[in-house]
Amino acid sequence: MQDQILEILYKNKGKYVSPTEITSLLNINQDDLEKNVAILEECGYIIDSSYESGIRLIESTHLILPYEIKKELKTNYIGHKIHYFSKIDSTNIAAKKLAEDGAQEGTIVIAETQTRGRGRRGKKWISPTGGIWMSIILRPKISPAEAPQLTLMTGVAVAKTIKNKFELDVGIKWPNDILIGSRKVCGILTEANAKFNTLDYVVIGIGIDANVETESFPSDIRKNTTSLKKELGEEINGSELIQDFLKIFEDNYDALKKGQFPEILVEWRKLSKTIGSYVEVHKQGGKIVKGEAIGINKDGVLILERDNGTLRKIISGECLHRKKP
Ligand code: BTN
Repeated sequence: MQDQILEILYKNKGKYVSPTEITSLLNINQDDLEKNVAILEECGYIIDSSYESGIRLIESTHLILPYEIKKELKTNYIGHKIHYFSKIDSTNIAAKKLAEDGAQEGTIVIAETQTRGRGRRGKKWISPTGGIWMSIILRPKISPAEAPQLTLMTGVAVAKTIKNKFELDVGIKWPNDILIGSRKVCGILTEANAKFNTLDYVVIGIGIDANVETESFPSDIRKNTTSLKKELGEEINGSELIQDFLKIFEDNYDALKKGQFPEILVEWRKLSKTIGSYVEVHKQGGKIVKGEAIGINKDGVLILERDNGTLRKIISGECLHRKKP
């Protein structure tokens, strides 16, 4: 019902619409209209209701509500089904449950805040309001070994979305952190569930510090983190960013399904801030490997040239960009 009221208000672009027109169009009574307008106001829409002139929309909400995302969504299937929460433990946890229950490919889970946001390597992901915390359910017909391709193509999609929209120095730090300058603005956590040797489903979790106030972050995280708001000096429209991202994501995913991962990898390499940098990779168990990153192969494995000139393949680990000694 709220969606239908919004549709009428948006169509009239800030002009007053009479309540009788809305109630007769939607076949509802005046009470229903008032109740639903009150709900929309609680969701952050600024609506002017005047007894003589009718009602009009003055300002849209800052929340990333399904209606706002779907309004201009140009995808064929990604994001057509949206599960929205103002607060949730983790959108990845919710998406995995939905996938287990048979949710269709392209379903997304989105939340304004997460209380138990999950990062890579078992870390906690701080998820205050203002961020975009989103998980996408996919059911690709690829082998579990190819799942890292999905993470790389998602990183390309996020970086391209930000680059197309804003004049910012966006790039990717291996394997899947999106940076502005040298600070992280987005992280990606892919969780796959395989049955026998095929993937049953994959959940791709994307956390973008869009309008987040990074000042509230603990100091160790704050110094390496930024937000789009901080970089641009003004709030961004989260729903529009999501629409653009979902379209680029779908195009990349369709290309990957058609066997065009090599082309995506070319884009990844162009967007990479890691290739050509001197890096320190912290492996699980505490081992540190240092060297110049000279490339990644088709499986997303990082190739390092160590100080002694030997090459070393790095499958996983936390990568830090360092000054060349
Ligand atoms: C990283 O450590 O860089 C990955 C962070 C991924 C965070 C996102 S936010 C939406 C989704 N839900 C989660 O619990 N985590 C991912």
